[in-house]
Amino acid sequence: MDDADALLDRLRLAGGVPRHVAVIMDGNGRWAARRHLPRPLGHQAGMAAVREVVEGALAAGVEVLTLFAFSRENWQRPPEEIDALMTLLEEYIARERDELRRNGVSVRVLGDLARLGPGARAAVDRIVAETAGGTGLVLNLCISYGSRDEIAQAARALAEEVAAGRLGPADVTAEALAARLWTAPHPDPDLLIRTSGEMRLSNFLLWQLAYAELWVTPVLWPDFTRRDLFEGILEFQRRDRRFGRVPA
Ligand code: FPP
Repeated sequence: MDDADALLDRLRLAGGVPRHVAVIMDGNGRWAARRHLPRPLGHQAGMAAVREVVEGALAAGVEVLTLFAFSRENWQRPPEEIDALMTLLEEYIARERDELRRNGVSVRVLGDLARLGPGARAAVDRIVAETAGGTGLVLNLCISYGSRDEIAQAARALAEEVAAGRLGPADVTAEALAARLWTAPHPDPDLLIRTSGEMRLSNFLLWQLAYAELWVTPVLWPDFTRRDLFEGILEFQRRDRRFGRVPA
């Protein structure tokens, strides 16, 4: 039994696996720079870690895995890097589609998809349609994603319903807004993992992370393995979650 399997056994015995794990995949550029490689090669190496974390989440029994793959701010990166990331996204979808379907993974893509080029958009639409029936893990890929945009569109949707007379102002509640976020109808993340040691939320799931446990690891994303995911889950299981209440 390898080390990762031993951790998997431990977290299964501990019980209370997080239902929803969100990940800010950071450090691809630094991983490449340390090897004197161009940044896109860091992103390419990061694809292996995406596979690792999906397989690890399936093995651990996580229900929802949300990965921050491309932020709305990332559109400001050099065009070559954006092209490389979009090509990798298409490659990931082409390469993993069958495996994801076999494993019952249902892929959803969250973000401002109108900004994607035709190739990436077609790939995204195809993976979402082809995996829609999956009853295992829900895999949310956040692409061209910004949390403030997501909250603003939910507020806009509510405003339109109020303007149309279908809702009154008193119906604008936290629950009503949450139901219009792109992550609906899934539960909020229990655990947020960020790699490469940065202590920031970077406009990721600002509403949904209200009660999440945060776990920051110094590991750079391309070096992240299922063993690291299991360590994060074990750390989560040791935490005392109070949701503002006193200990039980
Ligand atoms: C952050 O590293 C990572 C990204 C902006 C992209 C993440 C993309 C992948 C892991 C590959 C493709 C993903 C999918 C789902 C197909 P950074 O470039 O900000 O690193 P740095 O902070 O070290 O410069």
